[in-house]
Amino acid sequence: MSTRIPLPYTPKVLELFKNPKNVGSLSDASIVAKAGSPACGDMIRLYLKVSKKNNEDYIEKITFESYGCAANIAAASILTEMVKGKKMSEAWKITWKQIADELGGLPPIKFHCSILAVGALKRAIRAYYTKQGKHPPWLPKSLSLEEKQTMEEEELIEKLYSKYLKYNTKTG
Ligand code: FES
Repeated sequence: MSTRIPLPYTPKVLELFKNPKNVGSLSDASIVAKAGSPACGDMIRLYLKVSKKNNEDYIEKITFESYGCAANIAAASILTEMVKGKKMSEAWKITWKQIADELGGLPPIKFHCSILAVGALKRAIRAYYTKQGKHPPWLPKSLSLEEKQTMEEEELIEKLYSKYLKYNTKTG
């Protein structure tokens, strides 16, 4: 019998984990960005189709692929719903905390799952403008909290994974 205690996920997290929205790749994406590491599986990839309306850049379509946990899938799903149809400048303002709140909360050990989702979005937005050779006034030059935290997460994941590989080579 398993002695593991299930994580206290909210009904919203469980619902979106079972029936996530906007899953898959986008063949006509304007930009693709990823956050996390494929090495251990905690990874999310976002596809954005950006269009112009009244001289503003909008997220016309957004989809995701997640190789993370239930919380990551739910966070990515709700994130795509929240920014679809929004101006890029509005989407940029989304924080990981808003995502967690929309999900009805996340267990603290799962905060990083929503950080990865927002980190991927902010990377995608930044990468889009870098690709265009533009820098809109609302886009900060320095990295946002989520971009920084995503980099820290990635470094940590890589360190843990290489430690695991070393250990496995010795004992394997
Ligand atoms: Fe790593 Fe959720 S994405 S535990």
